[in-house]
Amino acid sequence: MSAMASLLFHLLCCLTVFWLLPLPSHSADPDPLQDFCVANLSASISVNGFPCKPASEVTSDDFFFDGFTQEGNTTNAFASFLTPGNVLSFPGLNTLGISMNRVDFAPGGINPPHSHPRASEAGVVIEGKLLVGFVTTNNVYYSKVLTAGHMFAIPRGLVHFQLNVGDGKALAYTAFNSHLPGAAIVPLNLFASSIPNEVLTKTFQVDAELINTIKSKFRP
Ligand code: GLV
Ligand code: MN
Repeated sequence: MSAMASLLFHLLCCLTVFWLLPLPSHSADPDPLQDFCVANLSASISVNGFPCKPASEVTSDDFFFDGFTQEGNTTNAFASFLTPGNVLSFPGLNTLGISMNRVDFAPGGINPPHSHPRASEAGVVIEGKLLVGFVTTNNVYYSKVLTAGHMFAIPRGLVHFQLNVGDGKALAYTAFNSHLPGAAIVPLNLFASSIPNEVLTKTFQVDAELINTIKSKFRP
């Protein structure tokens, strides 16, 4: 290859890299294309997100949400309750690429291992003492016990949990870079879905009786 051809080849490689570099930064929700797009949750057409309510029908109420004023009811198997403030409960968030949850814990309560396919998570403990942990795709476990005012970060898609290790109740707020981060809750995905027992017995190398015992914990 002549010196000129080699120079052109390297230039082309550099330009390709510069063109590809910004792509990973598109890993959260796409940027909005207008000031707002309050979701019309009952629209019959389906798009990536929700269609906008006509601007003439938008009011102040569309941009305020009082769903976090009430403590969640923690009388359940996990002794915790998650109140979502995402596009489904707060349609004003549509296309903004953000959402939050309120998470209440009774003593000993757990927000069980789960992951968010569409967002990273940041959280802050408001009350109580929480063990917060996540596991990487290489099965490395990171965790810390946090109290009021402490913040945590969970990288997108990684399995994580919060466990109340204090003597009283605990409360945390979490925030996401998606208007609908989604949550794959590991025990429910595996034991409350219709994955065949044969898959579970082979995966966990235990007998069907044990799988049925675990499944019985998650039946309504
Ligand atoms: C906590 O992990 C949450 O998803 O709100
Ligand atoms: Mn989470």
